Amino acid sequence: MIWTVFLLIHAVLLYFILTHRSRSKGEPPLDKGIVPWLGHALEFGRDVSKFLNRMKQKHGDIFTVRVAGRYVTVLLDPHSYDQVIHDPESLDFTRYARVLMDRIFNLRLPHQQPERSKALMKKHFVGTNLNALNSSTSRHLQALLKGEMPSNQKHWKDEELFDFSYRILFKAGYLTLFGGEQNNNGSDPSRVYQEYKVFDGLLSKLARGTLKPEEKKASQKVQQRLLELLAPAGGAENQGSSSWVRGYRLLLQEDGVDEDMQKKALLMQLWATQGNVGPAAFWLLGYLLTNPDAMTAVRKEFSRVSQSTTSELNLMDTPVNTPVFDSALEETLRLTAAPFITREVVQEKTLHMSDGHEYLLRKGDRLCLFPFNSPQMDPEIYHEPQKFKFDRFLNKDGSAKNIFYKGGKQLKYFSMPWGAGTNGCVGKQYAVNTIRKFVYLMVTNYDMQLRDAHAQMPEVDASRYGLGLLQPVGDLNFRYRPRETH
Ligand code: HEM
Repeated sequence: MIWTVFLLIHAVLLYFILTHRSRSKGEPPLDKGIVPWLGHALEFGRDVSKFLNRMKQKHGDIFTVRVAGRYVTVLLDPHSYDQVIHDPESLDFTRYARVLMDRIFNLRLPHQQPERSKALMKKHFVGTNLNALNSSTSRHLQALLKGEMPSNQKHWKDEELFDFSYRILFKAGYLTLFGGEQNNNGSDPSRVYQEYKVFDGLLSKLARGTLKPEEKKASQKVQQRLLELLAPAGGAENQGSSSWVRGYRLLLQEDGVDEDMQKKALLMQLWATQGNVGPAAFWLLGYLLTNPDAMTAVRKEFSRVSQSTTSELNLMDTPVNTPVFDSALEETLRLTAAPFITREVVQEKTLHMSDGHEYLLRKGDRLCLFPFNSPQMDPEIYHEPQKFKFDRFLNKDGSAKNIFYKGGKQLKYFSMPWGAGTNGCVGKQYAVNTIRKFVYLMVTNYDMQLRDAHAQMPEVDASRYGLGLLQPVGDLNFRYRPRETH
């Protein structure tokens, strides 16, 4: 007994010695919070945007906080972001991403895998090969929308906009990439979507490691069901899946990844390719429905485009000039894209701030940018930043506006929904094309109305800050029917 107590006391002492930390000369301000080990974890998980604003008031544009035993340096000065985005030597994306993938999907891949699969993705999602994916997605979108509502229907159909947008885009993306058609041995996209939504609901807690025991069980069960549903994707019998997924599966096999891990890797890819597109389309359509001027301007532009192209498919297959839509999308993403850009500090680094100060970053810590707070919601950059203004990214002559200032200096990064630099989003063009096609089909083929004409956009779910596209609390009720003129 006495030995147990003795060992326990020593273990506790050793723990405190090892985890004790104070600010060294030249390091950013350190804020450990009052709770041992956890530090600021609770506030961080509850509403990280609010928490980081509070820290910025207290410490300025750079500070280090303790979150569940980890030390995270947060940088909020967009003029200094370049040094983070363009320094893969000291600030490693992959190492951090591996930890997250392990935590969420229990996924462990050989060392070289992430780079090799990224190269494969670039081959399929960037450049001319993208055309095949675009037209397949376009066909699926049209078929899915027709399946929801025959074009001769006269009556309004009631829907919830978030559920509707996410469902249609998820299914179109899944059918295009993972090949879910029944006659191709794939799994039914509705089943996959149903299970995926349950998984998505648990995602923020999974990522933060804060699931309750019963949620942990539910998460394991739903992941297992998803792994089974995804098993045929990219396999020899499933000709319906995209050449990307088939190539990905082969690559994993070449790298000696076993069947079980292959399925987990597919689930990770399902999340990476589908998790943001549906929510982004929801926010955009929602803002258009609640801002009639914006809806009119986008409709007018689409009508001009459709008169000048021969087929609806062209809107995705060939580059088209849609500055009004582009501005409305940019504005939507400014308001609703809230990813962390996180890197692991793999060697000590001196960060030179734009104001001339220098800070030392400690090896083993994490460095995190949160562009949602700054620049995206910064009132110095955007007048009334909480408001949706569809033409915020348009110049007076109708061209795209990309010059914004902070502190009298032009910003290189004025909004960062896709990240930037070497680790920026590989699927950006595909995602933009898909959202544009979906919004085009909705606003040109259907009349859409809010069920409550005075409805406002729903609040955001604050627990999802840091995870990518935000999601609403509740939904926005609307109704739609085929347009008479069509
Ligand atoms: C609205 C939709 C989307 C948004 C807002 C978005 C945003 C992002 C962001 C913020 C990052 C991280 C950048 C960083 O940490 O520096 C990222 C990375 C990535 N995205 Fe997307 N994404 C979207 C859709 C897609 C799609 C459809 C694909 C499918 C091809 C995709 C594939 C990827 C990949 C592979 C990476 C990792 C890049 C790397 O390893 O360096 N994304 N995306």
